Amino acid sequence: MKIPSILLTLGATILLQQSVLGSPFGGQSVLQARSLSDTEDFKPKLVSYEPKYKGHALVRFLPEAHGILKSTLANAPIDVWASRPLGEKIARLTPEQVEALRQVQGQGWEVVHEDLQDMIDKEAEAINRGILANHPYRRALEGDLERGRFDYQEWFKHYHRYEQIQKFAQQLVLDFPHVVQYIPSIGPQRTWEGRQIFALKITSRHTHQRPSEASRWVRHRHRKPQIWFQGVQHAREYISATTVQYLAHHYASGYGRNPTITSLLDRVEIVVILIANPDGYIHAWDVDRYWRKNKRYLGNNTYGVDHNRNWDDHWGGEGASHVPTAENYAGPSPASEPEIQALQGFFKRQGNVIAALDFHCYAELILRPLGWTANQSAAHEAELAFAAEGMRQAILPVHQQNFTSGRMADFYSPTSGSATDWFYGNSTDSRRDKVLPYSFTFELRPTLAFEDGFRLPEEQIVPAGEEIAAAMDWFIDHAVENPLLRK
Ligand SMILES: *[C@@H]1O[C@H](CO)[C@@H](O)[C@H](O)[C@H]1NC(C)=O
Ligand SMILES: *[C@@H]1O[C@H](CO)[C@@H](O)[C@H](O)[C@H]1NC(C)=O
Ligand SMILES: *[C@@H]1O[C@H](CO)[C@@H](O)[C@H](O)[C@H]1NC(C)=O
Ligand SMILES: *[C@@H]1O[C@H](CO)[C@@H](O)[C@H](O)[C@H]1NC(C)=O
Ligand SMILES: [Zn+2]
Repeated sequence: MKIPSILLTLGATILLQQSVLGSPFGGQSVLQARSLSDTEDFKPKLVSYEPKYKGHALVRFLPEAHGILKSTLANAPIDVWASRPLGEKIARLTPEQVEALRQVQGQGWEVVHEDLQDMIDKEAEAINRGILANHPYRRALEGDLERGRFDYQEWFKHYHRYEQIQKFAQQLVLDFPHVVQYIPSIGPQRTWEGRQIFALKITSRHTHQRPSEASRWVRHRHRKPQIWFQGVQHAREYISATTVQYLAHHYASGYGRNPTITSLLDRVEIVVILIANPDGYIHAWDVDRYWRKNKRYLGNNTYGVDHNRNWDDHWGGEGASHVPTAENYAGPSPASEPEIQALQGFFKRQGNVIAALDFHCYAELILRPLGWTANQSAAHEAELAFAAEGMRQAILPVHQQNFTSGRMADFYSPTSGSATDWFYGNSTDSRRDKVLPYSFTFELRPTLAFEDGFRLPEEQIVPAGEEIAAAMDWFIDHAVENPLLRK
């Protein structure tokens, strides 16, 4: 039996009991509901990770120790979690790598977390508490759920599984039908495990009384200029999922109530990819918390291409690996991955995208093209830097988070084949399109100093969303009135 029908049955049972007994949650309805909970479909799906990271350590390398990182640990790919320009790197080391590191005489590194398994087990406990507290069935018993609907305030207190995020997207359409459209599949491609990538479009049916500057230059002038938000290219970056959900809700719910949002949605259409890497995200939740790539099978018991090295812009260059086991494996060829083909195809079919934001974590950075080389800057370097600085300033007063902005190649000592380079450099047609998209990679919370890396406490979901929403409110207005015209 499918869950929705059970939910309906349950809802009906409770309503019936209510009307018969008068008391909504009298002994009998609770009892009856409890017995339903024992059926297999209603077991809450708790998180329990394979014990793969026992003895794995998180290590901070200062610039003077980059030689050690390169030489001592060169025989196996290293999982770098975050980095600063010419500065610190934070990396996950296997027990063998930690042992090798301890053998070398050298300074400039420190273990910041001894046992990553312990860390993810603790996170699983917190997530499970949320799942139990939020299980639709329990919430129905507590009387705060109508027919399995999410309460948005509750929603943003927790991280959520793929299936729930899909339902969240569908609920936004039900609740804000005048501005939200659900797209079940962005293209004919399927992920390696057969899934479709879903999306939302958010805009008003009105147009602003005054045409925006961008509306004069976009390809389809009868349609609004578009803004692209994308989350979860990298599976383990849960806060990138919640932040994009937060933005979707912020704009959907704010229309007609918040003058800034109303004015923005009268001028632009927002395209939202909530989960760019469905297979990877599901794998992270079900099996491997630190899973980053997609689920392509590469033979030899090896899986996964790094989505953010597979885009068709300077594919396979510096900062992308050709070793299948590497976390930054570029894949066999440019846009070889069905997910990237779907995303690139959908993006190009829009035709009016004037800004694209790709959300990741962590280290609190706003990165602009170019990523593939540090030897040259983007033609719009000044405009991109100005917009990044504006976003940084919009974020700061919200919760005092001091983001850093910079050129992507300076932070990840280049990165080839990224979405951000493709959006800016290779998504448009030089003969047809007069506007290039503004393009940024956001590395969200936490800061590099926070020792738990990808484990951001759930209490920070809302603050992280609020500060990025402030940045977007400023930036969308800026982008639509100051489009990047081709030089
Ligand atoms: C498969 O993995 C083994 C052990 O890591 C390695 O020695 C071998 O070269 C790999 N084979 C291929 C085809 O990659
Ligand atoms: C841009 O994309 C085209 C395919 O549309 C590809 O042939 C070309 O190599 C790409 N350019 C760069 C610089 O990667
Ligand atoms: C950038 O310049 C350096 C030094 O001249 C060179 O080694 C490197 O290959 C260049 N990178 C690219 C992507 O052109
Ligand atoms: C933010 O960081 C920059 C660069 O480190 C620093 O100069 C500035 O003082 C910081 N601002 C605040 C408000 O902390
Ligand atoms: Zn990432």
